[in-house]
Amino acid sequence: MSNTPVTEADLSPKLAHLAGLVSRYSSPEFLVAPGGRVQTIAAGHYTVSGLSRHVRLGEFVAHKSPTGIHLGEVVRVEPELTYVCPIEPGEPIGIHDTVIRKGAFRISPSDGWCGRTINSLCEPIDGLGPIGQGLGRRSISNTAPPSMTRKRVEKGFKTGVRAIDIFSPLCLGQRLGIFAGSGVGKSTLLSMLARADAFDKVVIALVGERGREVREFIEDTLGANMKKAIAVVATSDESPMLRKMAPLTAVTIAEHFRDQGDNVLLIVDSVTRFAHAIREVATASGEPPIARGYPASVFTELPRLLERAGPGPEGTGTITAIISILVDGDNHNDPIADSTRGILDGHIVLQRSLAEEGRYPPIDPLASISRLARKAWTPDQEKLVSRLKTLIHRFEETRDLRLIGGYRPGADPDLDMAVKQVPIIYDVLKQSPGDVDSQDAFADLAGALKAAAGIGGQPNIRR
Ligand SMILES: Nc1ncnc2c1ncn2[C@@H]1O[C@H](COP(=O)(O)OP(=O)(O)O)[C@@H](O)[C@H]1O
Ligand SMILES: [Mg+2]
Repeated sequence: MSNTPVTEADLSPKLAHLAGLVSRYSSPEFLVAPGGRVQTIAAGHYTVSGLSRHVRLGEFVAHKSPTGIHLGEVVRVEPELTYVCPIEPGEPIGIHDTVIRKGAFRISPSDGWCGRTINSLCEPIDGLGPIGQGLGRRSISNTAPPSMTRKRVEKGFKTGVRAIDIFSPLCLGQRLGIFAGSGVGKSTLLSMLARADAFDKVVIALVGERGREVREFIEDTLGANMKKAIAVVATSDESPMLRKMAPLTAVTIAEHFRDQGDNVLLIVDSVTRFAHAIREVATASGEPPIARGYPASVFTELPRLLERAGPGPEGTGTITAIISILVDGDNHNDPIADSTRGILDGHIVLQRSLAEEGRYPPIDPLASISRLARKAWTPDQEKLVSRLKTLIHRFEETRDLRLIGGYRPGADPDLDMAVKQVPIIYDVLKQSPGDVDSQDAFADLAGALKAAAGIGGQPNIRR
């Protein structure tokens, strides 16, 4: 046996190591959750060693920093390193900081959330105090119900917006896109649609919006629906992770209410900003771009999000999704517009030229379609709309001809009718958020045409 005394110098590294272990594993969650250490730090992400065997793509981790616990999402897993995108921007990250696995991000929506505005992490941001938590816990990255178990979409509803109720009427459980360039009127139209009476709940995801617009949207336009609405907001200055999560959180809240049997309206403004956020996260984690800078994951995430809307399984309610798509530079064939058009059950096209004429909402009735319109129209209405479209088409294709004086009344009875009736139809379709919602768009149109016929002695529209 050696008699050499143990000195303080011998002990201190061991004690320091022990103290480190005690502090690292002192909180209960660290006793059970696998943990790792920060290895490298870059602008949009950091890497962690020791976690790769324990985490899956898309799961969340918690990073312990001097300012508290911060969440991050796993965006790439390699044998030795896990890549993490922090949820909040500007969080202080140090080399060798501890990071533990949290698993899927789960939320517990409850009826008490109605009338409230929250962020992507379900924290209230409206200054009205804390929000209660519901009983169930749902992962925000759930998948859609299997298609064969879902109810069929067949019940029409009135939106109160005449141009939509006449030309592209909608059904409960439908997924509709509103396509337009910036400043053409997407958000305004969405806010008008958010007032529809047909819904028990309205969940609104505002992604990448200007902070100023958010309050306007919620306070000025929702009206009586405010009490049954929940807004999930991630403004343009927030991190790409929060912007990417906002629609996922919103659809998860919508699923909660759908499962209670409610008919839910889900509004996402805009899906393009959601795609931009995914692109930013993917770029930070080194995923290669494939179309216009967008990585492949954008084109899997978009259908995953939109498939979650729609009718629920038997015995549940429906999620009707109305989303806006910003078409870059008014190019309606950009990759996000193209890929969403294929997933949706209809699209409304807004034209800048109509907005410039002051014809709001600037809906192009000939370019917009609702794939479920047949279920919402009566057979008579369907025939009438087909006739209206022919008249509008005739009116538009002869616009230049008429401008240069090449139109003579009496030569073409169809054109004569178009020239008389289309301006009246256009007038009926004009609507601004301040107007009273239309209860019966077809009756409004018939009334206007009848009144005009009465004054001018013209026959009513031929069916
Ligand atoms: N239905 C409408 N009635 C009157 N003005 C409208 C209408 N829709 C849009 N506008 C005008 O167009 C502007 C831009 O609309 P907005 O909805 O913010 O466009 P986007 O969301 O497409 O960028 C609004 O500030 C408003 O002045
Ligand atoms: Mg907008």
